[in-house]
Amino acid sequence: APLWCVIPAAGRGTRVGGDCPKQYLPLAGRALILHTLERLASHPRIAGLMVALAADDARWPGIAHMGGKPVLTTTGGGERADSVLAGLRALPADVGEHEFVLVHDAARPCVRAADIERLVELASAVEGGLLGAPLRDTLKRADERHRSVRTEPREQRWRAFTPQMFRRGQLVAALEAASRAGVPVSDEAMAMEHSGVAPLLVEGAEDNIKVTTAADFALAEFLLTRTG
Ligand code: CTP
Ligand code: MG
Repeated sequence: APLWCVIPAAGRGTRVGGDCPKQYLPLAGRALILHTLERLASHPRIAGLMVALAADDARWPGIAHMGGKPVLTTTGGGERADSVLAGLRALPADVGEHEFVLVHDAARPCVRAADIERLVELASAVEGGLLGAPLRDTLKRADERHRSVRTEPREQRWRAFTPQMFRRGQLVAALEAASRAGVPVSDEAMAMEHSGVAPLLVEGAEDNIKVTTAADFALAEFLLTRTG
């Protein structure tokens, strides 16, 4: 059955700068977040979207449907993990505890449909997983003055992307446990690791970038036309 997707979109985009959060800045003529939502809503594996927005968000366009699928919203929190947790809790009551749900950053508009497909197929055969890619570059350990003091092994080191996919109840429990323990988690997989689950890394395209700086907009515009 198709899955719900939670989209954390409550960030401030401080690394881009300016007073408009990056998810509402124009990308190829439309707000960045609309590209992300359209890509997700048009995917046959996805049943509906739950978008976590900042409490003071005045820019959300009030969309209730996209591609014939429901688009719901809720209020996010101070950290990304808080926004994801709010989104998970706000899912419709008929989304069961054991059902898999996806989590995808609003700031990743270039995700490929084929990678979502592979993630759902491979990670649903285990306890969940995430898109990522093995490191390509040589990895350095730096000191405080940016001197390279050591070369770290690149083997078995991956970059973590989204979507990430876990069972709704397990993910809520893992995020709540991390929060209670005061462990900051930068993604869902990290919360799952802390609860003793080893999420499956599914290799995805490197062009699934997280728009992070002002310069990333030009790159994302280029990548949008080449992915899909
Ligand atoms: N996010 C969120 N709630 C937060 C922080 C982040 O929903 N409290 C979302 C962002 O909107 C984004 C995704 O999580 O879609 C990834 O976060 P990031 O790229 O760090 O976005 P920002 O936090 O907005 O950017 P910055 O860290 O530069 O301020
Ligand atoms: Mg952030």
